[in-house]
Amino acid sequence: MSYLNEPEVLYNLQVRFADRNCIYTYCGIVLVAINPYDDLPIYGNEIVQAYNGQDSNNLDPHIYAVAEEAFKQMSRFEQNQSIIVSGESGAGKTVSAKYAMRYFAIVGGSSHDETQKEISLVEKKVLASNPIMEAIGNAKTTRNDNSSRFGKYIEIDFKKDLTIIGAQMRTYLLEKSR
Ligand SMILES: Nc1ncnc2c1ncn2[C@@H]1O[C@H](COP(=O)(O)OP(=O)(O)OP(=O)(O)O)[C@@H](O)[C@H]1O
Ligand SMILES: *[C@@H]1O[C@H](CO)[C@@H](O)[C@H](O)[C@H]1NC(C)=O
Ligand SMILES: *[C@@H]1O[C@H](CO)[C@@H](O)[C@H](O)[C@H]1NC(C)=O
Ligand SMILES: [Mg+2]
Repeated sequence: MSYLNEPEVLYNLQVRFADRNCIYTYCGIVLVAINPYDDLPIYGNEIVQAYNGQDSNNLDPHIYAVAEEAFKQMSRFEQNQSIIVSGESGAGKTVSAKYAMRYFAIVGGSSHDETQKEISLVEKKVLASNPIMEAIGNAKTTRNDNSSRFGKYIEIDFKKDLTIIGAQMRTYLLEKSR
């Protein structure tokens, strides 16, 4: 788009979602996701492998592309990376963060040993922490059957060989209104 303005952006999101069933759209470097409330076949291991190591400019917008970009920047320049997930209640933040973590677990778990495609134990533990942390305070609201109680800062630590060594989670916001 030559001229960014709200009506054009919204119209594009609508066309992509309603006509093409595309829930992801780039708006500059921001990935906009529309909650489909439907199980889309776009998160399987074959899709992870399609984004793994690729230049995301050549692929459809996807949460895996954002994760791949962060992973690439981290491995190339040895710099910490952050992904900010924001949106109103029920927008899909928790689900999106889960897919990003899944991406790191699969890519970090298999990038250096082609024979060992399985996610290793520490990566399984990192992923398994998610439902436990969500369970604390998670409640049904009018906007979301699985509304999170806390805003979370999740730090994933990688070894030099780019496998996950551990993770830490800090809550930084309590949703008092919930
Ligand atoms: N990418 C997706 N594909 C399919 N369903 C989704 C997706 N993202 C979200 N959903 C559905 O929407 C529901 C709400 O999403 P989620 O819990 O991630 O919202 P949230 O942004 O974390 O909201 P809150 O701020 O209330 O915690 C999920 O339980 C799931 O059913
Ligand atoms: C990245 O973050 C970790 C944890 O906060 C810190 O120990 C490390 O020094 C940081 N690395 C760089 C290159 O900034
Ligand atoms: C809410 O989360 C729980 C635990 O992950 C899951 O079993 C349940 O299906 C989710 N509910 C909805 C509506 O997505
Ligand atoms: Mg949430």
